[in-house]
Amino acid sequence: METRIIPADEAGIAAAAEAIQRTRPVAVPTETVYGLAGDATNGDAVAAIYAAKGRPSFNPLIVHVDGMDMAETVATFSPLARRLAEAFWPGPLTLVLPLAEDAPVARLTTAGLSTVAVRMPAHPVIRALITRCGHPLAAPSANASGSISATRAEHVAQSLAGRIELVLDGGPTEVGIESTIVAVEEDRLRLLRPGSVTPEMLTEAGSVSVSTSDNGTIEAPGQMVSHYAPSKPVRLNAMERRPNEYLIGFGPVAGDTSLSPDANLTEAAARLFDVLHVADAASAPAIAVAPIPASGLGIAINDRLRRAAAPR
Ligand code: TXA
Ligand code: MG
Repeated sequence: METRIIPADEAGIAAAAEAIQRTRPVAVPTETVYGLAGDATNGDAVAAIYAAKGRPSFNPLIVHVDGMDMAETVATFSPLARRLAEAFWPGPLTLVLPLAEDAPVARLTTAGLSTVAVRMPAHPVIRALITRCGHPLAAPSANASGSISATRAEHVAQSLAGRIELVLDGGPTEVGIESTIVAVEEDRLRLLRPGSVTPEMLTEAGSVSVSTSDNGTIEAPGQMVSHYAPSKPVRLNAMERRPNEYLIGFGPVAGDTSLSPDANLTEAAARLFDVLHVADAASAPAIAVAPIPASGLGIAINDRLRRAAAPR
């Protein structure tokens, strides 16, 4: 695949929207760093983001919205959350909030969590793109997994060459570091990732205290997230169902339901959290999962399944 860098003008935004419609992720400028954007409502589109980044595990992604109307379809805003949105949006602040009922967000986007990270970016290009697409966009930083975040179109192209179709070039980003992430709780805020919106600014706007972790340092956000875990024991690499098990199939192993009958890893990633929820809700007291090949997206799927199967 050839990776094209195109100007972030009307025509560029139209081309990006068209690619996103085809579930192809596109790199776009935001005021913080470049993001790798895809349709947050479509599990296949989100799986394609992970495939392009080569991420070894599924972290929940930030859902980008173009305004409060869209934000409220995605998340439930408490009065405190609303004050913060009014003070800092559009801008480099991400709020972790309860997922709205019937939120149009794929389960893979939130990694099956009941919370969602939402942000209304200030950059006109991503905002125009969201509006043009008509739905929220999931966008992790546009760099290959493990490498540094990209603040210029050329950085993105170097990091993801051959893995994505398009980079919208909006010049260097203004802020240069990722957004501040804060979990909004009853009457306090928990800082999950520091950024240019500081704890002092949050305290002032929200009239609440902001806690970091106990020793005053901030853990990597991906590690702080407690991922969705089924309530039942999970057995991996199962070729057949044992009594009392709900079997999640893949490829030749049919199971009670299948992640992908055609052994398609993108489809399996898109369905993973949906299927785990279904298995958890089933009457069988245990879950078994067919073997998933450990290549490409299969690495992230297996990582997630190992965590789901880990003794608790
Ligand atoms: O500035 C930014 O935020 C950039 C631009 C593109 O918007 N995006 C970005 O996304 O940095 P990403 O995927 O690289 O980082 C998102 C972080 C992850 O570390 C994830 O753990 C955390 O947000 N996150 C997402 N949903 C969460 C949730 N429900 N609870 C806690 N943390 C969450
Ligand atoms: Mg990142």
